[in-house]
Amino acid sequence: MNIEPSLNRTDGFYRGDAPSLFWELTVCQSLGAADSPYRHALERPAPYGALVARFLADRLGTRSFGTVVEVGGGYGTLMAAFLDAARADRVVQVDLSPRFLDEQRKALAGRPGVRFVEADGAAFFRDLDRTVDLVIANENLGDLPTVVGLRPEQLSAGGAGLAGRVAAVAARYGLDLAGAPDPFAFNLGAVAFLEAVAGKARVVLVTEHSCDPVLGPPYAFLPRPPGGGWPRRVALKDHDEYTVRFDHLERVARALGFRAERFPLAELVGLRHDDAIRSVVRSRGLGAERAELTCELCEHIAEYQGLLLTVR
Ligand SMILES: C[S@@+](CC[C@H](N)C(=O)[O-])C[C@H]1O[C@@H](n2cnc3c(N)ncnc32)[C@H](O)[C@@H]1O
Repeated sequence: MNIEPSLNRTDGFYRGDAPSLFWELTVCQSLGAADSPYRHALERPAPYGALVARFLADRLGTRSFGTVVEVGGGYGTLMAAFLDAARADRVVQVDLSPRFLDEQRKALAGRPGVRFVEADGAAFFRDLDRTVDLVIANENLGDLPTVVGLRPEQLSAGGAGLAGRVAAVAARYGLDLAGAPDPFAFNLGAVAFLEAVAGKARVVLVTEHSCDPVLGPPYAFLPRPPGGGWPRRVALKDHDEYTVRFDHLERVARALGFRAERFPLAELVGLRHDDAIRSVVRSRGLGAERAELTCELCEHIAEYQGLLLTVR
């Protein structure tokens, strides 16, 4: 069978007017409301943007930033809570969806120094002629173009086609593609995003569902997501996303001159890991609505990883 690789894209979906644009419930959105039942799973319940501010303060020793760029800010929920918990002189919200940008304008109305730019995140940074202090890209790397239907034997052929481009990127950064399933997928857009941001940002925080989550103590009790270490299709209403291989991104980031710290999202949100929550996860939350929701959040978060990049 002759399969040709193709590019999974979501830009048409995000730019378009499908009602399903607003259907995806992200981790940020599930923790958004003050009475969110999901917040019971957190050690110190707070909106997601405040958790991001706390995580950065722990790692960087500051809650004060000059220019912050958020890429793919969805409803603006993250940035609104972030600005309640941290300081930024200027904020730029970059999103290719006009409808999500409208939501961000509403969520951030009245906040001084906030600009909204309708653009692709990587293109925005390629065109930028200066360096910003902090970039946040939460749950959108899996939306960026992913090469799918790749066959391992196509990688050696070279050329300007998709397989040739993947082989060139893998060679440039020393990415291990040995043992790839047939066919497999490659997060080309996520790599291109890091390349675009390199040299333009002092600190970068990205999170996304991953195909190779590392869950050491105290989060080793969380369930292992499927995927076997290779990007997996996540079929959503009217578009597909792909999980991201974080070991590849970490390597690319280091080659681009960043110090890279990889972490489970459980750590960023401060997921509880006491006996009660372990037992809820073990029993899959059966029998009680709140336990079911807590378990749902834990299973979801188990798949998410983050990278904190700082310039060397
Ligand atoms: C899954 S939502 C995540 C929203 C939000 N960050 C959160 O965590 O709730 C993806 C967001 O990324 C935006 N997006 C998708 N592809 C993009 C791209 N290439 N450039 C900029 N924004 C993009 C979408 O319009 C949307 O706002």
